[in-house]
Amino acid sequence: MVFDVENIRRDFPLLEQRVYNRPLVYLDSGATAQKPLCVIEREAELYKTLNANIHRGVHHLSDRMTALYEQARETVRAFIGATKREEIIFTSGATASINLVAYSFSERFVTSGDNIVVTRIEHHSNIVPWQMVAERKGAELRFIEADDSGELMLENLDQIIDSRTKIVAVTQASNTLGTCPDLKRIIAAAHAVGAAVLVDGCQGVVHGGVDVTELGCDFYAFSGHKLYAPTGIGVLYGRSELLEAMPPFMAGGDMVDKVTFAKTTFAPLPLKFEAGTANFIGAVALAEAIAYLQRLPQAEVAAHEAHLLAYATEKLSAIEGLTIYGTTANKAPIVSFNVAGCDHYDIGMILDKMGIAIRTGHHCAQPVMERYGVNGMCRASFGLYNNTADIDALVSGVERAVRMLR
Ligand code: ALA
Repeated sequence: MVFDVENIRRDFPLLEQRVYNRPLVYLDSGATAQKPLCVIEREAELYKTLNANIHRGVHHLSDRMTALYEQARETVRAFIGATKREEIIFTSGATASINLVAYSFSERFVTSGDNIVVTRIEHHSNIVPWQMVAERKGAELRFIEADDSGELMLENLDQIIDSRTKIVAVTQASNTLGTCPDLKRIIAAAHAVGAAVLVDGCQGVVHGGVDVTELGCDFYAFSGHKLYAPTGIGVLYGRSELLEAMPPFMAGGDMVDKVTFAKTTFAPLPLKFEAGTANFIGAVALAEAIAYLQRLPQAEVAAHEAHLLAYATEKLSAIEGLTIYGTTANKAPIVSFNVAGCDHYDIGMILDKMGIAIRTGHHCAQPVMERYGVNGMCRASFGLYNNTADIDALVSGVERAVRMLR
């Protein structure tokens, strides 16, 4: 199968629209990706024909919906290379997945005097939950610094990760810099001292995927909405031995075995961590998005995204006064930049009036901004439906914005 981006674009109805009477140029897939028609239609069809709560009713619709939900769990398990279905927990998104681990893992394993390690390049959702846990438990929050290129500085890893480290939380791909850290090296250092590793796969799972068994991480979190699926559905993978040992995060229906006023016992995995009504239709729509991606030629998609990144980097770099942040060789297709003498927000506003959607601001990664001494950046992030015409529009739009602002 040959990857033809123009054919792919036809699968995404939203891309056809005009904004301010200009063709939409959508370069904000890092924030949320657009959805292919098959996902939109699958979700609508389920609401039209099968909506019924799962794991509860004996009735026909509930049974069928439950079966589809559990099939979706199996689709996710196979997609990320986990070995057991009970290791896949559906959540509302990566933030919920990380908070679940931060709370439950720490309740069981973190005590005063321990430390938790994050990195300079994390999204706030992979920093703040750990900071809150560290405060509650009297633990220390440490971080791995990044160099000017955005690469993590791993030379003194054995001083940062030590015998009191309980967990290391690290991104697979930075949402701001695109950096893909050397996860194997970090996981080896953590496991050498008996610490667990949580990988934030939000951006990474979209660009190249993951095999959690091959990678050897203990936890892996991602959101559906960046993976061409609806909002409000996410995944937590956790090694079953750890999930078994951890207390529940939220309490409610579906996560219990027997409830009396004297004592409650909990359901086995994965339901122990799925309190309340799950986003069951979202889970099935996520499985549909995964099936869509799996129908595409993986190597050609990866080559296309790498080409977009190289093309954008080259064209943007030619703009006088433009600085790109995140210049490592191994990058996700994300380009963050500033132009000397221009405010990132003003550039974003002017591009918007040309129908070009980028993200501006701190990208929920203020420690990254601090590292580069800026209060915000422009960010273009690419999905598999972007083409070089989108990048040409971005480059001429930035040139025009700069002329206006200077
Ligand atoms: N985490 C999302 C982003 O990077 C919202 O834009």
